[in-house]
Amino acid sequence: MLNWEQLYDACMHCQRCPLAQTRTNVVFGEGPRDAEVMFIGEGPGEQEDLSGRPFVGRGGQFLDQMMEMIDLSRERVFIGNMVKCRPPGNRDPLNTEQEACIGYLRNQVALIRPKIIVCLGRIAAGRLIHSDYKITKEHGQWVEKAGVMMTAIYHPAALLRDPGKRPETFADLKSIQAMIRARCERTYSL
Ligand code: URA
Repeated sequence: MLNWEQLYDACMHCQRCPLAQTRTNVVFGEGPRDAEVMFIGEGPGEQEDLSGRPFVGRGGQFLDQMMEMIDLSRERVFIGNMVKCRPPGNRDPLNTEQEACIGYLRNQVALIRPKIIVCLGRIAAGRLIHSDYKITKEHGQWVEKAGVMMTAIYHPAALLRDPGKRPETFADLKSIQAMIRARCERTYSL
């Protein structure tokens, strides 16, 4: 396992998959190194690629609004992605790209040691919760894995496309808020 600085450096110079050739910036993720809560998306989009920061485009603004609904701010959670470089044209990251990248995320999780992981969308849920994850059926459900409580909600981009999914997501967010209150000591008291 790498320490934080080694890991950051390895990611910044990574050439493990072809996304390295087309990226502008590696999006390492951001938030406290001891965050109790992690949000994991799919992969950087255009704005993220240009800025090197996760969830800063339209989807990111919507994610901010969703977090606000449960009194969470970006400073309190670590926000990362399944893959750290932008898939061209915002296509889904390929399995091979996810395989090449997931070790970095696992290393981040091992260093941060979160109590709660929230997958944003089916790609993260399918990799981190279980491989045949059905987001339409299973969103909002909780699973415990190695002492970490895990759930998934619809991806912010899916909620922008289909506002009909928002009421269910609001219920999921309330459940996340309750889980944070039950399991986390610092997230709501900073
Ligand atoms: N969508 C994602 O999945 N991640 C980002 O960082 C931005 C958009």
